[in-house]
Amino acid sequence: MTTRVAMVCLGNICRSPMADVVLEHRLAEAGIDDVVVSSSGTGDWHVGQPMDERAAEKLTAAGYDASRHRARTFTAEWFDQQDLILTMDASNHADVLALARTDEDRAKVRMYRSFDPEADTPDAEVPDPWYGGPEGFDDVLAMVERTTDEIVRHLSER
Ligand code: 4NP
Repeated sequence: MTTRVAMVCLGNICRSPMADVVLEHRLAEAGIDDVVVSSSGTGDWHVGQPMDERAAEKLTAAGYDASRHRARTFTAEWFDQQDLILTMDASNHADVLALARTDEDRAKVRMYRSFDPEADTPDAEVPDPWYGGPEGFDDVLAMVERTTDEIVRHLSER
């Protein structure tokens, strides 16, 4: 049975697309072909746009395909389409939960970094790199890569 995983951040042009692309890449490497990965943002300012150039540059330099992403907005219908919804920060988490209609919806939502082996607490956040310099994107990519390995392990144990 296919498992559907969605990453959610604010703009869907930096953090969640990076997490999306890296997970897709690593699942393909692991030969796991029954997981569908997607991402969206709680805000709609960038709908239809490709990833932030700084995020795409970091991904491309690290060997990932950043070219296919187009930003989408998270809406309540996503709960019907997804099995696991991973939120990047506490604000995204609260915004997603505010759209949940049932306990079943709520049970699908989890903080992305709850899978990060280096997170100090289960509610650790992926900091928003949008306002800062390029080093913020390096930090996000490192966080995403190590967290992705745990997510792949989790998905391979289904
Ligand atoms: P993201 O970063 O949530 O990681 O995609 C942001 C991108 C754009 C904006 C905020 C955060 N924005 O305000 O347009």
